[in-house]
Order: sequence, then C-alpha cells, then structure tokens
Amino acid sequence: RGNNEPHRPQYHFTPTDNWMNDPNGMVYLDGEYHLFYQYYPDSTVWGPMHWGHAISTDLVHWEHLPVAIEPDSLGYIFSGSAVIDHDNTSGLGTKENPAMVAIYTYHDPVGEKEKRIDFQTQGIAYSTDKGRTWTKYAANPVLKNPGIKDFRDPKVSWVEREDGSGKWVMSLAVLDRISFYSSPNLLDWTLESSFNPDWAAYGGVWECPDLFQLKASDGTEKWVLFVSINPGGPNGGSATQYFIGDFDGKNFSAEHEDVKWLDFGADNYAGVTWSNVPEQDGRKLFIGWMSNWDYAQVVPTHPWRSATTLPRSLELVKSGDGFLVASRPAAELQALRKSTIEITEKSIALEEELVELELTPTVGSNFEIELSNEKGEKVIFKKSDDNLVFDRTASGLVDFEARFAKIHTAPLNGLEVKSLKIYIDRSSVEIFVNDGEMVMTELVFPTEPYSRLKLTSFENPGSMHYLKSIW
Ligand code: FRU
Repeated sequence: RGNNEPHRPQYHFTPTDNWMNDPNGMVYLDGEYHLFYQYYPDSTVWGPMHWGHAISTDLVHWEHLPVAIEPDSLGYIFSGSAVIDHDNTSGLGTKENPAMVAIYTYHDPVGEKEKRIDFQTQGIAYSTDKGRTWTKYAANPVLKNPGIKDFRDPKVSWVEREDGSGKWVMSLAVLDRISFYSSPNLLDWTLESSFNPDWAAYGGVWECPDLFQLKASDGTEKWVLFVSINPGGPNGGSATQYFIGDFDGKNFSAEHEDVKWLDFGADNYAGVTWSNVPEQDGRKLFIGWMSNWDYAQVVPTHPWRSATTLPRSLELVKSGDGFLVASRPAAELQALRKSTIEITEKSIALEEELVELELTPTVGSNFEIELSNEKGEKVIFKKSDDNLVFDRTASGLVDFEARFAKIHTAPLNGLEVKSLKIYIDRSSVEIFVNDGEMVMTELVFPTEPYSRLKLTSFENPGSMHYLKSIW
C-alpha cells in the first residue's frame, strides 16, 4: 500500500482499503490524536457504517487500528463525536481513568425500509483503554427519535458556566435546523433550543454540526457553529457553512445575516474539530472529508475511496465590521518539507509531485497559476477581478461523473489577495488565501503527475518546497 498506487494521497489520511466518508469522534488523549471515520469495510462504496479508527502523534503520520464500533441490532453507526469524561459524570469510567465516550447516531436500516420516520437515534459507547476496545452502553439509545426522519450527527462538548459548574451540550442536525440538547451525565438529554435563521443556506439537508469557542488575537471571544449541508454548496453538492455569534448555554444566536462558507472548493465536507486538545496548545484543530456526495462513490481510486483534508487550525479573524473563521494548515505539516526553492522563472519544471507553494501575488493585479503534465492535463487557478477561479475541467480523469468537471468560483467581495499557500498531493490541491481567510479544497485525478508550473502576472512569485511522503 502507499507509494505505488495511482492517486493514493501521499500526505493525507486514507483508509488502506474500502469506503470512508465523514471524520468522526476526533479526540486527543495522552499524546495521541484519535481519528475515527465513517467506514464500510466490505466495499469501496457506501454501505452499513462502522467507525474506522486511526491514531497519530503529529496529525500527519497515521497508524491504522482495528474498526472501533460496529453496527448492532439498533442500526448502522453514523457520524458523531467523542469526549473524555474527566469528572466521570457518566459513571462509565473512573476519575483516575476517565472514559473516552463516543456519541453517535444509530441508523436503523429496518425502520428505514419499513418507511418509518423514527429510525435515527443517538447511542453511546465507551472505552477505558485509550480507545483500543469499546463497549456499547447497555441502555442505548440515550436519545430517542421524536418523530423526525433526519435526526443525527451529535457533536458533544463540555460547556462551563460562569460559576464554574458545567454541563454537556449536544449539537444535533435535525433536517433543516440544529437542535441543542444538554445533559449532566451524557446519558440523559434535555432539548434546550433550535437554530434555523431564515437567511441561512438551505439548499440541502443539514448535517454534522460543531459548536465551539474561538478567540481572536485581540482577545475577543465568539461562539462558532458549523453546519454542513448537502446539496447546496457554493460550487455544487456538499459544503460547510458557519455562523459566528453567541451561545448562552441554551440558545445560539448569530451576529450576522450573511451565509459564510468554510471552504469554496468542492471537496471539504462534514469537518469538525478535535475535543480535549490541551489548553496550553490552545488550537482548535479541524479535519474534513475531502470529497463531495455528488461523486464521492465513483472517484477513480482503488482499492480505497476518500481521504481527509489536511489538518487545519481554525482562527477567528477580524473582517470588516465582523469576524470570519480562517483555516490554517497545521504547523506540524512543515515537517514534511525536504527542500526549498526560490522561484525565479515564470515556467518551472516540477521535479517531484508533492509540492507546497508559497506565493505572493502582485497587489491589486489578476494572476494565473497553471499546473500541467506532458499529456496536456492541467489545472488552472486564477484571480479574475473580484473572483477566484479553479478550473479542473481538463485536470485528468474527469468523466466518471458529470458534476466533477466544473469551474469553481469564489467571490472575493473586495478581499485583497496578499498571499497564497498551495498544497499539491497526488490527487488534491488545497489553496489557502491570506493565511486561510479563504480556502479552496479540490480533488484532481491527473493520469501522470503535474510536471510544470506556470505563473502569469507575478512580479516576485515566492518559493516552493518539495514534500516528503508519509508512506
Ligand atoms: C454526512 C452524512 C451524515 C451521516 C453520515 C452517514 O456525510 O450523511 O449526516 O451521519 O454521512 O455515513
């Protein structure tokens, strides 16, 4: 596995074999970043969902562990989250050895077939050996279905009150709204409120929420709510919108009335943040599913399907009168660099396929970046007045699904493009504008590596790094 497989990502997480979708249950414990994920171990297309499992000490190199949670009589194991129950509120561990608790959705295929509407419920499982073995809670489900078909993807975190006491808060996707539930013990849940402002994006069903606090460099603290929607993304299919505002322990309120997208590329979906990251680290670490339901099941990779995005650190950044959430590649990725080259030419032969570009566009000017290979396959990324444009129509294999070969645009709304960081892997291009203020994450499937980089309208382009493979 690894090096010799066409299109196998060389520094992104992938399952060794078979189907993956959303990242699940991301939690840090004792030096290990846990990554669970929607996994179907018997096929390269979606099927009865399990939680696959991998761990990393640096967010870049991953060790595969056995499947953590398997379907049972209550259903398939859909997306959800994991927490460390430090105070043993659930009684499932001890204070000395707190339980790792996974909260996930049961999707009952029998109920679905019978055309019932109550076939999604929330269940929990726990581990007292650092996620190596799991026990399902005997009295599952812990949250029954109130009579609504889409009722899933619990993201749980501990929310502290001003007086130092706290409670667990679950954000749950309920068709076209996010409902917030609270609990003292992870076992008994009470509905507090729901959020669905009329100006939000509703092009598809709401999925995979995340609710967390972010602090700006000036000390301002805000609550952020992520909501993935499918379809209805800005460039078609799946995408993640977010809201910035306040959460008072019961209600979330947004402080803006415009739709904000985490990523304008087509391939960053269902991403959420890690829990239990040490306070001295201070980062909100994020990973998304690097695909799109429009074509995820037919992308030309074998014997696996799907990768995660690069790990990113989320930052609250001032923007006009308000704020935005910037996504920055995790600093750990710098360890992948093996050589650095100052760019002095406008047309550069790429000697290797794994590249990180650090470019400085000329202020106020349009520009164009082209990656191409000898077969004439190419990717074009450009600034065209007030838009960024990513064109993958001729990027390589494109005809496996009609909705793949598209030109994607991202409106700049006056934003000046000051810097670009671009990561090129064997089947993806990730573009970070101005330290992550705008992001485009895109899959591409060239039939041989891109071997030429052409830069148009750059005065002092910048530099590039060749990167090591994690295999
Ligand atoms: C998002 C999603 C979730 C669900 C899971 C099923 O991609 O549809 O809402 O829990 O995938 O695999």
